[in-house]
Amino acid sequence: MSDSVKLTYQNKTFEFPIVEGSENEKGIDIKTLRAQTGLITFDPGFKNTGSCNSGITFLNGEEGILRYRGYSIEELCEKASFIEVAFLLIFGELPTEKELALFNNEIREDSLVDEDLKSILKSFPKAAHPMGVLSSLTSGLIAFNPNSVDVESEAEMREAIIMLIAKFPILASWTHRKVKGLPLNYANTALSYVENVAHMMFKLPHQDFKPSPVLVGALNKLLILHADHEQNCSTSTVRIVGSSQAGLFASVSAGVSALWGPLHGGANQAVIEMLESIQADGGDTKKYMAKAKDKNDPFRLMGFGHRVYKNFDPRARIIKKAADEVLQELGINDPVLEIAKSLEQEALRDPYFIDRKLYPNVDFYSGIIYRALGIPTEMFTVMFALGRLPGWIAQWLEMRKNNEPIGRPRQIYTGKQNRSI
Ligand code: ACO
Repeated sequence: MSDSVKLTYQNKTFEFPIVEGSENEKGIDIKTLRAQTGLITFDPGFKNTGSCNSGITFLNGEEGILRYRGYSIEELCEKASFIEVAFLLIFGELPTEKELALFNNEIREDSLVDEDLKSILKSFPKAAHPMGVLSSLTSGLIAFNPNSVDVESEAEMREAIIMLIAKFPILASWTHRKVKGLPLNYANTALSYVENVAHMMFKLPHQDFKPSPVLVGALNKLLILHADHEQNCSTSTVRIVGSSQAGLFASVSAGVSALWGPLHGGANQAVIEMLESIQADGGDTKKYMAKAKDKNDPFRLMGFGHRVYKNFDPRARIIKKAADEVLQELGINDPVLEIAKSLEQEALRDPYFIDRKLYPNVDFYSGIIYRALGIPTEMFTVMFALGRLPGWIAQWLEMRKNNEPIGRPRQIYTGKQNRSI
């Protein structure tokens, strides 16, 4: 007999089955809880709630394991390109040579957006945050590509996926060019996907631009490491928006907004801003360590801690190595990065951080690399979004294919009881 749990409430016992995943993760199946008992679960932040079955990403925060479709993140970073990883996440297997060539060609052919999108971009003030602009432009794509997608049709789904993968980096780079007051670039079909990201962001009209292997190698790794992370805030947003049968572009646009926040993707920007403010205040890292530990002070050490990793984030290990390589190869000597190193070393030795299992997370090091590569701080979260795109698409597709019900949590009402004016 399979496992179950018994719940006793008001002298009645109810039984709920245990569901088990392929890596032995277990959960209580409470689908009938309310119907049977009249109770709901109370779990703010969904810390103990599994919202779906998923075959895309496996992560074990206690042991620091992260795998996409069964492949370890370490091996993928070593041996695969970002586009191969995107294909793997979305379609379930790594592409053959032929499949990869076709996928790349389809993306290249779709690497254009309607010129009228430029007028939307133009109407934003220059000071607008690139994430807000990216979310709006992604939403804007719907208006220019209005066909609704039949998820049962493989051809239609593929077309929508290719379109989004091809056009998203154009929009992302335009958010940067807008802030900088630079002309907008399109993709160059002679370049790879990752080279094109660099080309569209950095190519100046009066200069040749050849993305350096250090830049492309580091970007490739960073994009792979960010490509999926199971049911995090933005991915859950994409799934929940899509569960109302809103389209792929609309769902991804919502994901961009969710990623923007400083407790999620915005943390990489927050890390550098924190380091800069520590520097401006004299560079006393000990003072800021004390502030982070003081319960009466709202200050938190940005880039430390993670909802699921209670061990070293495996992505942070890879990025730390990449960050060291990039800094060494580019010969960068940056006082802000010195502050980062001191904080990292102090936190790793400090009982407050050790006891709470607060390790540097992926954003701590990604911010450092982006800064070293010359990517402006306000673009960091946009870089994260570029990496996360295949994950959002894969999760959206899985949700629709599994015919998941509309996401609609319940609540415990704590407001006023019935009253009259
Ligand atoms: N600095 C100081 N103390 C911290 C930090 C931090 N960065 N993070 C957690 N703590 C403390 C909390 O105060 C709490 O202490 P207590 O038990 O004495 O009350 C304890 O550690 C547990 O913290 P929670 O907030 O309950 O942990 P949770 O899992 O809810 O939050 C989060 C995780 C949001 C990432 C948190 O660690 C944080 O705010 N970190 C800084 C922001 C950040 O780097 N975010 C990026 C996450 S990675 C990503 O999104 C890709």
